[in-house]
Amino acid sequence: MELKFSTWQEVDSYLEKSRGIILPIGSTEQHGPNGLIGTDALCPESLAIEIGKQTGALIAPTISVGMAQHHLGFAGSITLRPSTLILVIQDTVNSLIQHGFESFYFLNGHGGNIPTVHAAFAEVYAQASMGQNPTDQSKIRCKLANWWEADGVMKLSRDLFGDADGSHATCGEVSLTQYAYPHSIKTVEMDPPIAPTGPIYDAADYRKRFPDGRIGSNPSLANPEAGEKLFKLAVKGLAEDFHKFAG
Ligand code: NI
Repeated sequence: MELKFSTWQEVDSYLEKSRGIILPIGSTEQHGPNGLIGTDALCPESLAIEIGKQTGALIAPTISVGMAQHHLGFAGSITLRPSTLILVIQDTVNSLIQHGFESFYFLNGHGGNIPTVHAAFAEVYAQASMGQNPTDQSKIRCKLANWWEADGVMKLSRDLFGDADGSHATCGEVSLTQYAYPHSIKTVEMDPPIAPTGPIYDAADYRKRFPDGRIGSNPSLANPEAGEKLFKLAVKGLAEDFHKFAG
């Protein structure tokens, strides 16, 4: 059940049986020569929609722009500052708290969001602890779930791609979008086949270290068949995890 395709009466009815909601959160950033700029938002969104179909869980609109300052050296990338993203998350959670939601399951597609999302959760709890919200917040719970860490997914990626999976513009995430969006598959030879690895600082430094945007991956190995396997396994693991979290 997607929030954007629901009426307010349907949300009222949903709240009578569940106080949990899944919020896909991603990023709009370069993903190398064959990865879509929307990859990190499209992965959690497509997984969340399928979880919603299978379980009836309510799916919030995707937060599609995340914390991606290090990708700004590449055309098309958009970032929020960490401080802005914290406010976006806080305002979203606070809005939903007003209606009675209590369990907020952020389904994440971007590693760069992790520290900021956790900081936003700390703000939400601090506001409860310091009595800054008139509504009772004692039951509010927030959770961050990275789709690539769903039960069994990392092992499957490893089995499918080995070291070539890499850490940005990975074979796994490119495969997942190729399965979910088959009309947007790009075929590009990678040079070198495996991208360099290294630390992440600012955007200019990133562009120097990782000239085509990838880190450690060879996403020319990506394919929709692998994407289907990863998709189905991730949906299963995440649906179970959400059920455990939200009851
Ligand atoms: Ni990504």
